[in-house]
Amino acid sequence: MNLENTKLIFDKVHFSYKKGQPVIENMSFTIEPGQFVAIVGANGCGKSTIAKLMDGLLLPKEGHVTLKSLDTSRPTDLDMIHEQIGFVFQNPEDQFITTTVMDEVIFGLENIRVPREEIRSRLDHALEAVQMKDYMRSMPHQLSGGQKQRVAIAAIVAMRPQIIIFDEATSMLDPQGREQVLSIMNELHRQGMTIIHITHHMEEVLSVDRILLIHKGRLEFDGDPLTFFETVNVTDYQLEPPFAVRLNKMLQKSTPLTTDWKEMIRLQWSIN
Ligand SMILES: Nc1ncnc2c1ncn2[C@@H]1O[C@H](COP(=O)(O)OP(=O)(O)OP(=O)(O)O)[C@@H](O)[C@H]1O
Ligand SMILES: [Mg+2]
Repeated sequence: MNLENTKLIFDKVHFSYKKGQPVIENMSFTIEPGQFVAIVGANGCGKSTIAKLMDGLLLPKEGHVTLKSLDTSRPTDLDMIHEQIGFVFQNPEDQFITTTVMDEVIFGLENIRVPREEIRSRLDHALEAVQMKDYMRSMPHQLSGGQKQRVAIAAIVAMRPQIIIFDEATSMLDPQGREQVLSIMNELHRQGMTIIHITHHMEEVLSVDRILLIHKGRLEFDGDPLTFFETVNVTDYQLEPPFAVRLNKMLQKSTPLTTDWKEMIRLQWSIN
């Protein structure tokens, strides 16, 4: 697939589950190939709905969602859209379909009819990418939450999508599991994938390329993390500022805000 063209475009999208109760209103944005985008906002603001609109699980009532020349409103385009967009959900328990780690990755590949001789190499590569190769024959109940989530990611990576959407995929994990999943996300981004990370954890959005803040179904902010934390009071959106931002407030703004709190302390040191 030509990466130049794999922009994901929301063009004046409206959506409601029930007539007269809009959930997404007049939403427009373009996600460039290879971007690492965080989608943030309060509970119920519409983040998961946006994710489902992205890959055609839900369809706009007005407007269009397009990927390259594919449009989610055209039923014949949906298979190709699903091949390009992978999903990792919140609860690792819900994601296993088969009985072993290996089968979990192979299942999706057989579904899209990957040739037998290619399945083995894709399986090895995907499990290596999430450091789960040693667990190839393990069963789901033998794995920790973080390991299950890594297998879910491997199953997606093996399908070679251009975009992976993580919908609160770190929220049920312990700090170590979360750290590992975040580092896999960063590595996939480094390799050129588009990563869309829906999260409530503001520490996790400091290093992304771009933040979309959703408020009551509308796009309230679209920009880089530094501008986001400088201009938006995240507590207004039921979000907790990251440590670097809280520290910056305590330093009374005498040092410029950076996403690295250690750097901020060094700057403060050199000013005084
Ligand atoms: N299947 C559904 N039927 C009816 N209403 C729904 C459905 N799914 C979500 N909603 C409503 O649509 C709105 C947006 O929900 P959505 O799940 O997109 O929010 P969210 O930002 O992902 O929330 P959270 O942070 O809790 O995951 C909410 O008011 C929710 O109650
Ligand atoms: Mg949600």
